[in-house]
Amino acid sequence: PRVVILSGGLSHERDVSIRSGRRVAEALRAAHAEVTVHDVDADLLPLLDEVRPDVVWPVLHGASGEDGSVRDVLSLLSVPYVGTGPRSSRVAWNKPVAKSVVARAGLTTPDYVTLPQTLFRDLGARAVLDAVVGNLGLPLVIKPASGGSALGVTFVSERADLAQAMVTCFAYGDIALIEKAVSGTEIAVSVIETADGPQALPAVEIVTDGAYDYDARYNPGRTEYFAPARLDATDAEHVGAVAVQAHQALGLRHISRTDLILRPDGTAEFLEVNVAPGMTETSLLPQAALAGGHSLPALYLSVVDRART
Ligand code: DAL
Ligand code: MG
Repeated sequence: PRVVILSGGLSHERDVSIRSGRRVAEALRAAHAEVTVHDVDADLLPLLDEVRPDVVWPVLHGASGEDGSVRDVLSLLSVPYVGTGPRSSRVAWNKPVAKSVVARAGLTTPDYVTLPQTLFRDLGARAVLDAVVGNLGLPLVIKPASGGSALGVTFVSERADLAQAMVTCFAYGDIALIEKAVSGTEIAVSVIETADGPQALPAVEIVTDGAYDYDARYNPGRTEYFAPARLDATDAEHVGAVAVQAHQALGLRHISRTDLILRPDGTAEFLEVNVAPGMTETSLLPQAALAGGHSLPALYLSVVDRART
């Protein structure tokens, strides 16, 4: 098949997207696909006109890639593409909205509040943050409501550190998600759709010295991964089922990754889903695929084939 990979773009995760796009292109070329990699920009329409791809794969992380806007364009043009449609992408991209959707579907997710920057300014930082701590306690995790690769995310265990964490967060967006921090094992479960429906790949366990931040994600050796995760059969099956439920509840398509915390009591706490999971050499989905006995060329080609039908 002729495949156009879209990567790069102008989001905070531009560099990650370029690296992911390159890896997907390499794998697809090894599977004899005809691949063009395109940095998404105003040339997108002329390019699609010229190449006439069978499938577009938006390996675009962050805004425009995961918020549904590029997918809106592809949908409008009736070009087959890999991944979730625009409306479900928008829902998944908004972490508080995604949390409420999966909670309604019966999944467990850490308690949270959503805090617009305007409220912070209007009511004053101290009053708002006192109310937040009064409500959720400490420790907390402060995140941009929409974002990726842990950019703008801070773990806060002291009330005194909260204001700085909010400032850091608001640098990436106008709305903060403030979540009660839960302790347990950090787990990522990738889901790929096959003819039999969505299938969970083996869970991957993330072990870091400090935070699983941008540096820990993209510098080889900074983080220890266990693929498959060191879970007993019950927990392994449970986290797989949770990821498939999240995929379905959010209306995701072809490929996704759900990030969660597995508590010592076996509760899987949903953190978020990614409609364009990282595909770099240190990313989780490729590790899960290899742990599941897949070859990346064959697996990615099967994803492209699903998107064509
Ligand atoms: N947002 C990054 C790419 C990830 O979730 O893997
Ligand atoms: Mg993410």
